[in-house]
Amino acid sequence: MCGIIGAVAQRPVADILIEGLRRLEYRGYDSAGLAVLDSTNRLQRSRAVGKVAMLATKLLETPIDGKTGIAHTRWATHGKPAEMNAHPHVSGTWLGVVHNGIIENYLALREKLGSYGYGFDSETDTEVIAHLVALHLKREGSLLKATLKARQEFKGAYALAILSPEEPNTLVVARQGSPLIIGLGIGENFVGSDIQAMLPVTNRFIYLENGDVAYVGLHKIEIYNEEGELVERPIRESRAKDSASELGEYRHFMLKEIFEQPTAIASTLENRLASGHFLPSIVGQNVMETLAKVEEIQIIACGTSYHAGMVGRYWIESMTDIPCTVEVASEYRYRRQPLRKNMLFVTISQSGETADTLAALEKIKEAKGCLASLSICNVAESSLVRESDMNLMTVAGPEIGVASTKAFTTQLLALQLLLGTLIQAKTGETDASRKLAQDLQLLPILVEQVLELNPVIEKLAEQFIDKHHSLFLGRGAQYPIALEGALKLKEISYIHAEAYPAGELKHGPLALVDSEMPVVAIAPTGLLLEKLKSNLEVVHARGGQLYVFASQNAQMKPDEQTHVIELPAVPEMLAPIVYTIPLQLLAYHVAVLKGTDVDKPRNLAKSVTVE
Ligand code: AGP
Repeated sequence: MCGIIGAVAQRPVADILIEGLRRLEYRGYDSAGLAVLDSTNRLQRSRAVGKVAMLATKLLETPIDGKTGIAHTRWATHGKPAEMNAHPHVSGTWLGVVHNGIIENYLALREKLGSYGYGFDSETDTEVIAHLVALHLKREGSLLKATLKARQEFKGAYALAILSPEEPNTLVVARQGSPLIIGLGIGENFVGSDIQAMLPVTNRFIYLENGDVAYVGLHKIEIYNEEGELVERPIRESRAKDSASELGEYRHFMLKEIFEQPTAIASTLENRLASGHFLPSIVGQNVMETLAKVEEIQIIACGTSYHAGMVGRYWIESMTDIPCTVEVASEYRYRRQPLRKNMLFVTISQSGETADTLAALEKIKEAKGCLASLSICNVAESSLVRESDMNLMTVAGPEIGVASTKAFTTQLLALQLLLGTLIQAKTGETDASRKLAQDLQLLPILVEQVLELNPVIEKLAEQFIDKHHSLFLGRGAQYPIALEGALKLKEISYIHAEAYPAGELKHGPLALVDSEMPVVAIAPTGLLLEKLKSNLEVVHARGGQLYVFASQNAQMKPDEQTHVIELPAVPEMLAPIVYTIPLQLLAYHVAVLKGTDVDKPRNLAKSVTVE
């Protein structure tokens, strides 16, 4: 989704901006642009449809540079991907603006600005920001005052960075709903929607809060809150490693991140277990009293994180008496629900910036509808973490590939950590909670072992490249894993993939099965294995091609229609995590063979900060 980088410096900034945009590429975008104040203090702009590399080439052919600049990667919401719609947008020679988010009342503002004589060169909602701030700039005489005035008229979500020839060496930025961060330098300062974009120039950051507007100069930063009061925001030093955005020996970030899972899991386990005991501090200080009161759990998330929540529900209800429901945030936020007593409201998000998930949390907080909110998140500085009462951080490291991999498996692990802590809070340690804690220690090594299947799965992927459709089947806690396997395949290989609980096949989807239909099944040992085998017999009898990821103890027999890929025997509670790995590898290799843009699949964005 859209990305912002800006700089106020005493050196040329075009290269810093282009490098920042490159680092934002993982978020997904369709065009890029940059605007600088040149040596004569004129506003210069360059934009290109396609990759940041196209913009960089354009700048080589027609160089522009200056010491104050803003740049943007755009993911189209209002108006097609086209140069005229790419940011920065300008208001004559008065100012340039880059914007993440959506101005919901842009049509009304467009009309109003039209009546003042402003014309529009794009189809975007962003252009109204440029003209409205320009209108106020003419009246107020200061970019900061103009932005403070204009923001009172915006409805929606935005992160903005604005520059104007009227005020050299200045950026004015604003945040409402979309993340925006100030990066601190010495005699220079930066702004960005993501710290990754600024890591080559600084590791000291100020995270703006909703409603903040800030003046960013060479030596001075002033932040005003929603009420227009001058406020201080803490400076945080980031330990995020710049190298996280390097591919190293890997061809794609997705493959790198799949192989990072043993480390990500080990890091997420670190300091959270001690001799069969879940350390309560993992979700915050003095939380046991709150967790002991929990009578219901509501999990809210989107996409892959939602699948993690679905698995969590199986686990929580299998080991406690706490009823648990799971819902996608985009539905939950608009649905009326009776308020429930002593409910723990759990949000799951890799980025912590997903607009729907944040809105669902806001809704429950406004209604005072839960005992407490708890986020499972991978980004410590994210909005979700800041807005939640308790947090359980996954320690996966930055995830660059749009298709979520290591974030998912660490979310599953976090749900198990939460489950163990809940059991301890409600009933004290039990044999089952102790066994869970012991089993979890095995995870990094088990995942390592399954990764050794990579060459086998690479070969298997060849059988999928000419397919247009596929089915994924699982039962119990493996059903959401089937959903996740299907999501991975469709999002990066563009093969239509559907997942079903295997017992549901006979109620309709079986009609799709013929010799052209690959059917992927997940078959660890457990209570439902024999049931699953019967479901697969039915597919087999209709000529379906079966690809079964099975436990070595499952006694699955291969034949000309049945490909069996054996996995090590694993404790039942760990199976969903372990069986995710081969499905990620399968999707990856199919996509590579099909030649798609694996890390940045078409139409998708890493961080979905708009509704
Ligand atoms: C997964 O591969 C996705 N690209 C997507 O479904 C993602 O999980 C979803 O948008 C939620 O994101 P979040 O975890 O950052 O909230």
